[in-house]
Amino acid sequence: MEISVLPRIQAASVFPRMWPGKDRAHYLRLDLSEAITASPESVRSALETLLDSTRFSSYPDETALYPRLSEYVGVPPAQLLLTNGSDHAIQIVLRAFLDRGQRLQVMDPSFPIYAHVARTLGVPVRRVPLADDLSFDMAGYKREITPDTQLLILVNPNNPTGTAVPEEDIETIVFEFPHIPVMVDEAYFEYSGVSALDLLPEAPNLIILRSFSKAFGLAGLRLGYIVAAPGLIEHLSKLRLPFDINAFAIAAAKAHLSNLSHMREYVREIREVSKPLLEAFLAKSKIHYYPSAANFLLLKLKDRDAVVDHLCASGILVAPQRHPAIADTLRVGLAPEPEMMRFIRAMIDRPGART
Ligand SMILES: Cc1ncc(COP(=O)(O)O)c(C=O)c1O
Repeated sequence: MEISVLPRIQAASVFPRMWPGKDRAHYLRLDLSEAITASPESVRSALETLLDSTRFSSYPDETALYPRLSEYVGVPPAQLLLTNGSDHAIQIVLRAFLDRGQRLQVMDPSFPIYAHVARTLGVPVRRVPLADDLSFDMAGYKREITPDTQLLILVNPNNPTGTAVPEEDIETIVFEFPHIPVMVDEAYFEYSGVSALDLLPEAPNLIILRSFSKAFGLAGLRLGYIVAAPGLIEHLSKLRLPFDINAFAIAAAKAHLSNLSHMREYVREIREVSKPLLEAFLAKSKIHYYPSAANFLLLKLKDRDAVVDHLCASGILVAPQRHPAIADTLRVGLAPEPEMMRFIRAMIDRPGART
């Protein structure tokens, strides 16, 4: 007898890997907006202590991380839920709110994981295009909200465009639609410095997602978190399992949060040195880029694929975009000055650049 999974799972597809067959470790990785730096000594020594002990043969205990995270975020621990990366947080939130017949609304283009998870839940996605300049189209976004809209997602700053959603637009949406949960994805919060957090005391429908993958440089350890009203966190906790967060992620995050200076200095360097450096080069080279509040820039190029191939042959990975609205673009992560200069030099050497 044939074993069949649910039709909605059959209809979904496996999320594609970005560089099948390539070992990213051998490249300068500017493709996934990770931090391009070694972890601080305190984080490495916390991980080494764990390696040298028998502690990782026991199940992990994340309890002690909550008070530190609470202090960092500025909300009580009851308003926080740790997740295995913010991808996991996305799964939790979508599973909590969406059922058949209901609709998810996203900005478009945006982070593809939302639509991927929605597909596995059999839930339709309403994609609201960004404006031509890739800024957030508030009027269009509000116009598309209908009675079957069960979850709104705002990404600030947005990936892959880097563009910011104006704070007042987020506020308007959260308060004008108090019956609809609004998930604000702030994976790049440390770079933008902008958060919807201040709205939380007045907005029981607001859910904020954050990540340790970007500014904290822990993408490989998988850690994210949800911030929301305590009652909501309690419900969302039911969709988590007791040992979802591994011991190494807990140890590394505790070490990071006891001394934020390394993360803050990295973010400062990216914002104040690398970003102006790359922007100046792009302006001089007459390469169009979109204003970004994140640690990456979206570049528009006539010969995009040739540039991506050339960069790859030079040992540099960037993220060519497939979405039809931005099919001539690539996303490049901002990195410390030496790596940024390596990217700039490769761009100067690209075919056709000197003609
Ligand atoms: C907007 C956004 N949300 C969430 C994520 C997922 O991050 P992670 O699962 O590594 O925390 C990313 C990763 O690129 C992202 O760009």
